[in-house]
Amino acid sequence: MQKLLIHGGKPLHGEISISGAKNAALPILCAALLTDESLQIGNIPVLRDIETMLTLLNQMGVSVMLSDHNASDITLSAKQLNNPIAPYEMVKTMRASILVLGPLLARIGQARISLPGGCAIGLRPVDQHIKGLQAMGAEISINHGYINAVAKKLQGTRIVFDIVTVTGTENLMMAAVLADGVTVLENAAREPEIIDLANCLIAMGAKIQGAGTDVITIEGQSSLHGAKYSVMPDRIETGTFLTACTATGGEIRLNNTSHQLLGAVIDKLTEAGAQINVNHNQIHLIMNSQPRSVSLRTAPYPAFPTDMQAQFMALNCIGAGTAIITETIFENRLMHVQELKRMNADIEVEGNTAIIHGISHLDGAHVMATDLRASASLIIAGLVAHGRTTIDRIYHLDRGYENIEQKLSILGANIQRIN
Ligand code: UD1
Repeated sequence: MQKLLIHGGKPLHGEISISGAKNAALPILCAALLTDESLQIGNIPVLRDIETMLTLLNQMGVSVMLSDHNASDITLSAKQLNNPIAPYEMVKTMRASILVLGPLLARIGQARISLPGGCAIGLRPVDQHIKGLQAMGAEISINHGYINAVAKKLQGTRIVFDIVTVTGTENLMMAAVLADGVTVLENAAREPEIIDLANCLIAMGAKIQGAGTDVITIEGQSSLHGAKYSVMPDRIETGTFLTACTATGGEIRLNNTSHQLLGAVIDKLTEAGAQINVNHNQIHLIMNSQPRSVSLRTAPYPAFPTDMQAQFMALNCIGAGTAIITETIFENRLMHVQELKRMNADIEVEGNTAIIHGISHLDGAHVMATDLRASASLIIAGLVAHGRTTIDRIYHLDRGYENIEQKLSILGANIQRIN
């Protein structure tokens, strides 16, 4: 099994490019199911989750063509969809597989998807996806661990989500673009990835208004056509590098990204002492002092993202003062605390709240990644720690960060992957 080896204590300096957003690319790949014409998608990050989604789509009958010149350019054609099934083996490794449900029902009226189980960070049910599709007229039964769904023709309707769900909003938006009549999604998620998906669907001929607000109105069309679309930059990858440099000190410039996607994160980094300058697709950060501790509470966009919580936990470990972090989205997303404590961090946990007393330095240690963003948190901790840190189970990291150790090496970190 591969591990990361980090010798901490070096500030980050230099310039790198940010990859396309995993959480935008995954639903956009599924949008290819909505048309029999080709969808050409650019700025796709090279990640394990993307590979899994391409394999899933391919075994359903979607042809996948990778560009000879550019690994981030992919053309999909779902002319033939002869196997609308998402098997357990794939769904268990990537919950976002549920995103094929809405498009399959809308386009061919049937789908059989393995029920995503609980996963490390929480229970994560899909009741809102199912409730919405049933309201649109789908008949859904669950047996032997599979969601079996059929629909002659989905009908537009008003759907009010009980809770704000990102993939739930995306699934229903994709179902609604080919439904009969108008669908109104209320209490919809407002994440930038939803706007990106909506823009791709609009390029394919869909009629969607309000993406990025909590009410999205979709006027169903009889068919969608092919399009060419480029995925937005990854705001979580951007935020992770910014947080790493705020922790280590130094000066970095991130290209091909957008500060507009990161309001709450940039505010917190500034509060921690980072000097941040932005222009339209670059972010420049300088940090030349010990970070101040910053308290935060995760919540749906535009508030502070749960996907940045673990990285800020690492930052606060060496902050001046005490910080309180409350996780409100997932019930079990503080698993990195135990590992950070192995590095001498002073953290108390009460329910979903962590109280972090900043200390002058962390000690390098042997730690284990428990989920994707927890892995990023341990890397940040390793970068600031005295001595050597070894991180096990980095397959989590490869699901969501493109070439992270190469990018950190460019910035001067002493980090390597070992077998
Ligand atoms: C997406 C992101 C993930 C991010 C999360 C929250 C993708 C591929 N993943 O995950 O990186 O951490 O948003 O920003 O985009 N819930 C229900 N019933 C449902 C659906 C969700 O109870 O039917 C609950 C979940 O258990 C969770 C909360 O709602 O507590 C939010 O989950 P949701 O927004 O759906 O997360 P994902 O879309 O899975």
